[in-house]
Amino acid sequence: MKVLAVASEAYPLVKTGGLADVVGALPRAMKPFGIDVVTLLPGYPAVIAALGEAKVLHRYSDLFGGAAQLVSGIARGLDIIALVAPHLFDRPGNIYLGPDGRDWDDNAQRYAALAFAAAGIAGGLVKSYIPDIVHAHDWQGALVPVYLKFGGDGPPSVLTVHNIAFQGIFPSVIFPALQLPIAAFAIDGLEYYGSVSYLKGGLQCADAITTVSPGYAQEICSPEFGMGLDGVLRARRGTVSGIVNGIDTDVWNPSADHDIVATYDAGSLERREKNKRAVEQRFGLDSGDGILHCVVSRLTGQKGMDILSGSLDWLAESGARLALLGSGDAVIEASIHAAAARHSGRIGVVTGYDEALSHLLQAGADTILVPSRFEPCGLTQLYGLRYGCVPIVARTGGLADTIIDANDAALGAGVATGFQFLPVEAAALEWALTRAAALYADRDAWRAMQRQGMKAELSWTRSAGAYAALYRRLIEREKT
Ligand code: ADP
Ligand code: GLC
Repeated sequence: MKVLAVASEAYPLVKTGGLADVVGALPRAMKPFGIDVVTLLPGYPAVIAALGEAKVLHRYSDLFGGAAQLVSGIARGLDIIALVAPHLFDRPGNIYLGPDGRDWDDNAQRYAALAFAAAGIAGGLVKSYIPDIVHAHDWQGALVPVYLKFGGDGPPSVLTVHNIAFQGIFPSVIFPALQLPIAAFAIDGLEYYGSVSYLKGGLQCADAITTVSPGYAQEICSPEFGMGLDGVLRARRGTVSGIVNGIDTDVWNPSADHDIVATYDAGSLERREKNKRAVEQRFGLDSGDGILHCVVSRLTGQKGMDILSGSLDWLAESGARLALLGSGDAVIEASIHAAAARHSGRIGVVTGYDEALSHLLQAGADTILVPSRFEPCGLTQLYGLRYGCVPIVARTGGLADTIIDANDAALGAGVATGFQFLPVEAAALEWALTRAAALYADRDAWRAMQRQGMKAELSWTRSAGAYAALYRRLIEREKT
């Protein structure tokens, strides 16, 4: 079976968050199910640089304002079709944002072009490659099902929502540029309170909608989490499902990780000490045996980083330490830096994005904090499980689905893997940190919980099977 994946990022070529990890890992995970995934990506400079010998599949004289090409090749192990369109994608820096930190003002055109190209391929534009399924990701891919539905024939489409907070909403003046029939600007298309919403259009038109955990699938059908799209999702409930993300267990493997100081496994957890020392050094923290928390995150309200920031005095005064790696919201960043200055030696911050350092933190810290207000799946808590870095998470979405709280029943049964808390407020977070510190004091119990987490099945095998089954169902249904 041939699947064309359509996304705006894919690890290791280009990554701003978990979407890239998932899009980058799925092709290899789908192989054992007899599914060949080719990923259509924008021709950003990093993608083009990584493409070896590329073959031209198609040339456009004018695609959303300039000449463009579809080229195919292998890039860092991924089977890629790149949309080479210099007027849209040949830009330095962040893929979504200009140098002023704001969205590029032609993002509507950039990702409409990507979806338009995908629908073209699905419709037979490239004779040598006709996919059986098109699988689009997030709002950047969400117009694919819209083009397919309003453009005539094409294979079944799947739309995966990685985060419903990002919807691709644009003023209606852009509609004519999309080259869709006027019927698409309607309630059962992409019209959204007078504007154009790419994600809403995709949700209306996709043959199947998935999101990245069963818990989040249920949540987004409610007004509290649906961010205005819960009504659309409820109307299409029969097509909505949740498939939890796996992780790439080769990239994230503490027994063979080049980014950490000392490799280890569940039988040699004492070797984590060396990584802990390295984390202390990198983050300017006092050295010691006491509990060391870490954070690897975008510093945003979604991630609850404002709440954490409000608890930092309490955390330092409780005797704990924190190493935080992240960047994002300027106000949150400033308040975290101020707390680090007040508590030097106890709170250390590295601002920015550093893949290697994120591995070291997972290998050296005792816990990873993920206090998200909402979390479609979350990957850092899964990396934490794999690395014996005990997750302390808000009880929401994929976090609730993947971490087993250390309540008395779970501890008694030996199945606990972390700590959950709710509501996402300072008092509840601090209570979870208190529970963690108490268990940490009992080293045998702590080690047992680390080992339990490290045993968790986190690979893609199960979820890849769920995607494969979904694809097959859609193809069968189309035949009948
Ligand atoms: P989201 O995609 O919502 O940001 P996820 O938990 O799904 O959240 O994925 C985040 C990914 O980005 C993980 O791979 C995480 O390790 C990585 N990450 C986040 N912030 C940083 C950072 N500052 N440096 C390195 N990696 C980071
Ligand atoms: C989004 C979500 C995150 C999820 C990731 C990959 O970025 O915020 O929870 O893990 O996508 O699916």
